[in-house]
Amino acid sequence: MPPLHDLLLSRLRESPEGLAWAEVMALALYHPEHGYYGPGPRRIGRGGDFYTAVSVGPLYGRLLAELARQTWEKQGQPAAFTIIEQAAHDGQLALDILEACEFPYCIVEPNPRYRVVQQEKLAAHRGRVRWVDSLDQVNLGAASGGLPALFVCNELLDAMPVHLLRWSGEAWQELRVRADAGGGLFFSPEPPDSGLAEEIASLPTQLQPGHVLEVPLAALAWLREIAAAPFHGAVCIADYGLDAEELFTPERSQGTLRRYYQHQMDDRVLEELGQCDLTTHVPFTRLIHAAETLGMPVLGYEHQGRWLGKLAMPWLASLEGRPPDAATRALLRQFQSLTHPGIMGRSFRVLVLGKTAPTAC
Ligand SMILES: C[S@@+](CC[C@H](N)C(=O)[O-])C[C@H]1O[C@@H](n2cnc3c(N)ncnc32)[C@H](O)[C@@H]1O
Repeated sequence: MPPLHDLLLSRLRESPEGLAWAEVMALALYHPEHGYYGPGPRRIGRGGDFYTAVSVGPLYGRLLAELARQTWEKQGQPAAFTIIEQAAHDGQLALDILEACEFPYCIVEPNPRYRVVQQEKLAAHRGRVRWVDSLDQVNLGAASGGLPALFVCNELLDAMPVHLLRWSGEAWQELRVRADAGGGLFFSPEPPDSGLAEEIASLPTQLQPGHVLEVPLAALAWLREIAAAPFHGAVCIADYGLDAEELFTPERSQGTLRRYYQHQMDDRVLEELGQCDLTTHVPFTRLIHAAETLGMPVLGYEHQGRWLGKLAMPWLASLEGRPPDAATRALLRQFQSLTHPGIMGRSFRVLVLGKTAPTAC
């Protein structure tokens, strides 16, 4: 039996009420030794369990560098302007962005093993990159008044732990994890933890019995950290996700929690824990509502295809009238993958929030 399974069984022996799925998911992804992401960056893209916009190729980073230039212009070209990235993984997106612009870069990386990999990858740009452990440190060494910045994260929120709810037909129940006599894990519908009450109060109830929904408490807590972080400018969140009207349809009645294991996606999320990626679609409507409540207005929210199409316009215009060379053809293929509605253009979304400096900085 995998070591994480043993660990969960021992926790379950001490928890007669079962474990919240968020606790199981956090351990399965981030346990330092036995979690999927704990020991170091997994291979993404060809040869990995899944691919992301970053693993498609360098074009994505180049277009985000263009977004950084636009954000810098809008802010009046401040000298201290910095790009901040969280979920930098093996440093590939940072490398692609750094090679396409001159701005300083700050990586928020709590895991020292990831930091080592990122430092190696970004050795050629070492003078321009600094690392911090958490969002509240991004202004370290910067001018008073807060740091002018563009914050970016690609596929961070889909990897955050969620709680699971299920509509019984009469009430929302929490799906908690329990073990049977043989040590097999299963989901058990239970009265929800009191920490879920506020979210439950705003959920619809005109649903078919059995409808499952993920509650993104960790993502909402992260958004509060973003709002309180000592920088101002824009926050760019790119991920696959859904709007409320898409989440509450019969097609989504089983929720969006999935696992990626050996290049396959399925819903056997209690199996091979620690050896597979676990992920959910980001509930963008809920996130936008929370951001606005925190004073971060929506500057843009679009399907990735449309959004990147606009950012790429100057580049595409510069190609007109001359036959593309091999390097340009490779970039155009990446553009096609990133923007085609049947590949990544529609299921991935980009949310850009405005952010002022918190009053303390
Ligand atoms: C799905 S991968 C995406 C990696 C990369 N951004 C990309 O798009 O290719 C999720 C990443 O989020 C990172 N992550 C999760 N929580 C984090 C946190 N609180 N701070 C920094 N990184 C985090 C994980 O370590 C993992 O590298």
